[in-house]
Amino acid sequence: MSVSASSITVDDKRVELPVKSGSIGPSVVDIGKLHGQTGIFTFDPGFTSTASCESAITYIDGDKGVLLYRGYPIEQLAEQGDFLETAYLMLFGELPTPAQKADFDYRVTRHTMVHDQMNRFFQGFRRDAHPMAIMVACVGALSAFYHDSTDISDENQRMIASLRMIAKMPTLAAMAYKYSIGQPFVYPKNDLDYTSNFLRMCFAVPCEEFQVNPTYARALDKIFILHADHEQNASTSTVRLAGSSGANPFACIAAGIACLWGPAHGGANEAALKMLMEIGTPDNVAKYVAKAKDKNDPFRLMGFGHRVYKNYDPRARIMQKTTHEVLKELNIKDDLLEVAVQLEKIALEDEYFIEKKLYPNIDFYSGITLKALGFPTSMFTVLFALARTTGWIAQWAEMIQDPAQKIGRPRQLYVGPEQRDYVNIAQRG
Ligand code: SDX
Repeated sequence: MSVSASSITVDDKRVELPVKSGSIGPSVVDIGKLHGQTGIFTFDPGFTSTASCESAITYIDGDKGVLLYRGYPIEQLAEQGDFLETAYLMLFGELPTPAQKADFDYRVTRHTMVHDQMNRFFQGFRRDAHPMAIMVACVGALSAFYHDSTDISDENQRMIASLRMIAKMPTLAAMAYKYSIGQPFVYPKNDLDYTSNFLRMCFAVPCEEFQVNPTYARALDKIFILHADHEQNASTSTVRLAGSSGANPFACIAAGIACLWGPAHGGANEAALKMLMEIGTPDNVAKYVAKAKDKNDPFRLMGFGHRVYKNYDPRARIMQKTTHEVLKELNIKDDLLEVAVQLEKIALEDEYFIEKKLYPNIDFYSGITLKALGFPTSMFTVLFALARTTGWIAQWAEMIQDPAQKIGRPRQLYVGPEQRDYVNIAQRG
């Protein structure tokens, strides 16, 4: 696609709008000076056609089903690397050398403990509080403990805060899980890798030794890689907007967690598994596909559809393969997988889904695997947030260092009342 130049004429005044091209993907029309030169705004609720920033971290080709992290295909990173390698790649832009990887793993590992007073912070929650509510609160509270890494103008403090966020998310996530089941918190161990450490903090108990199952650890590490980043999705855009005001990184990540919780976004993995449980058997699938197509029925197939992917989400393909591998390896027969496979088959052959280009997304299969690994549905979005923290913090750091960065402040199309005078309450009918 070649876009040379563009212009707009407002009240007989022609305004040239420069076109900018990136390294790959669609070009953009720079409308930064449009209002100043014409007095009008553009209008794009949901930002369906709007680029909010320049970024070099992740690239998606929604038509081809391509996802690249710093240019590397997600399939290769998921199959050949580990999650902390992906985190390093996100933060620094290149794959680490063996020495750099060892140093990064060492530094992250030694930030996994949280301030011990966080334990008391948890006591304020009901045991049945949703773990995402706890995560929003606890991550935001981190800025109350780590004053030495909240000055965003200091590069070293930004790096320490980034390492702390990546390192402490598993610890807080495990604490939220343990608190919900009434078991004591388990401290991290420095001789375990990132994901094994997390699994042990979730499933170990003080009464006996705990050995991490390498199949579980490998599967979950791969799931974390798949969830690490995804361009300017709703939660990443939230983190960037919060960060554009100069808010500290812990507060920005807490804002991202809050946004991710929505069922249209990261909450879809929990909603998708609940949907599969509600469908129950492959025989019921056709009825639910009909509900999803019915304009008068608010029901949607959770884990289906995507703003960008108008082809199969490449992460969903890897997720589906991982689900089959984990269930086979653990000798688990989950009827919900049969429901999911049948649902996918029927939907992908249905004219409604074909015409609207609705395919399974990352959330369609992830819940079945996470359930097989022993997590309750309430923890699914917490695991998404744990992994996405790497992308959020890399995008936040990129924004802070962008010389063009300024506070985000969208405008609007006003449709309210024109100016009118106040009426004293004694005169109102
Ligand atoms: C994530 O942005 C990201 O990158 C997100 C994410 C990431 O890694 O950060 O990939 C993670 O959030 C994945 C998406 C998880 N959400 C779900 O699975 C929830 C179900 N999906 C839908 O709510 C929806 O598909 C969205 C929210 C994901 C995308 O919505 P869009 O882009 O705003 O599209 P739309 O709602 O305008 O839908 C287009 C049409 C509509 O029909 P019409 O009004 O044109 O007639 O498709 C229909 C929708 O009704 N449609 C669906 C559907 N999704 C869209 N119909 C039935 N079932 C669905 N799942």
